[in-house]
Amino acid sequence: MVKQAFGIDVGGSGVKGCLVDLKMGKFIGERVRIPTPRPATPKAVAEVCGQVMEAFNVPKGMPVGLTVPAPVKHNIALFIANLDPSWGGTDVCELMKTHTGHSVTALNDADAAGYAEVMFGAAKGVKGTVIVTTLGTGIGTALVHNGMLVPNTELGHIELDGYDYETQASSGQRTKQGLSYPQWAERLQRYYSHLEMLFSPDLFVVGGGVSRDHDKFLPLLDLKTPIIPAALRNEAGIIGAATLAAQAAKTQAKTEAKAAKHKTSKE
Ligand code: BGC
Repeated sequence: MVKQAFGIDVGGSGVKGCLVDLKMGKFIGERVRIPTPRPATPKAVAEVCGQVMEAFNVPKGMPVGLTVPAPVKHNIALFIANLDPSWGGTDVCELMKTHTGHSVTALNDADAAGYAEVMFGAAKGVKGTVIVTTLGTGIGTALVHNGMLVPNTELGHIELDGYDYETQASSGQRTKQGLSYPQWAERLQRYYSHLEMLFSPDLFVVGGGVSRDHDKFLPLLDLKTPIIPAALRNEAGIIGAATLAAQAAKTQAKTEAKAAKHKTSKE
């Protein structure tokens, strides 16, 4: 069984990576962070991801999970709100193979962080529907039901009161628009009440850097659903990416073994 995998989290300001212990859901060694290149084109970012892996001498066969702040369907980044627009339509796996020589599992950043919170963090052992939101430059979301991730939910872009709501309620917008915590909490109230109405979740988990200050805004929210801060903070993306990459590698190995068996039985 694979015990370790590598995770890389591509964000607006930094590309971060670390080796992950898959049983414990913990970093092995010190995380490496390289500032996100400007402009953050796919090629420039892929080269930085290569440097992050080189820093750890990641062996070629090791599962590598890579997150991007975009929905990723069958390896393709569909659209991107907060990085260079040229990411839209990029095959992330092909890109990484070309520029780093590594095969990667590509996934959405909030999906990775959310899955890590469910496996190892604030939502560990919670049954039913968990919605993890990451409040950063944008709003990322992960929808997990009984441990099963429904990828690419993109609930940060829900339209409310005529706005793509991440342009109103993300943490980046709080800073940009100079909102006090109580002013921001009013927008969060609107946002989480709406999600609550749509999904009847059992738990909300709030991640992103600002979750460090959760005591300044979470107590101001009035919801039926419990809402708690993330536990893994800025480690969640990397841990989730590595975990999901290891799972994908396992599934692929099983499929290949089945196909090989089928082939021999036919010969
Ligand atoms: C993107 C999501 C991403 C979130 C957090 C949004 O703008 O559309 O894919 O998860 O930001 O980075």
